[in-house]
Amino acid sequence: MKFLIMNGPNLNLLGLREPEIYGKQDYNALLSLCQKVCGELGVEMESYQSNHEGALVDKIQDCYQKIDGIVLNPAAYTHTSVAIPDALKAVSIPCVEVHLSDINAREEFRKHSFVSPVAIKTICGKGLAGYEEAIRYLYRYLTEK
Ligand code: DQA
Repeated sequence: MKFLIMNGPNLNLLGLREPEIYGKQDYNALLSLCQKVCGELGVEMESYQSNHEGALVDKIQDCYQKIDGIVLNPAAYTHTSVAIPDALKAVSIPCVEVHLSDINAREEFRKHSFVSPVAIKTICGKGLAGYEEAIRYLYRYLTEK
């Protein structure tokens, strides 16, 4: 089984970026945590981060028949992109949506996610731990179905 941990714009700057909202741990710490959890479950892991919507769409398309599940933090594209959820629907790969912060408790424009309707679950406001929960949820979803 193989999972893709996918992160959208500015998440490469974790630690530096608004630490009071997104925490002090950096992007490498996020990947190490995901790697640890996947390793425990015996799941192979790939990671991908891009600041470009089209690159994220290309990567989702590339996952077809190669990746069993996607953990996705679309970052700002959560609130603007139709192409990302369209790509997820096209490849029919189960996706858990993750947000470090609680998008429902911030500005109005963050309350709407175009990705949520196509995700099997959305986890927000749990910081890095949300990624661990997402990996475990995806694993259960795929092994119990
Ligand atoms: C985010 C929330 C988004 O609103 C924001 O644009 C991000 C990060 C989060 O992880 O909390 O870049 O997805």
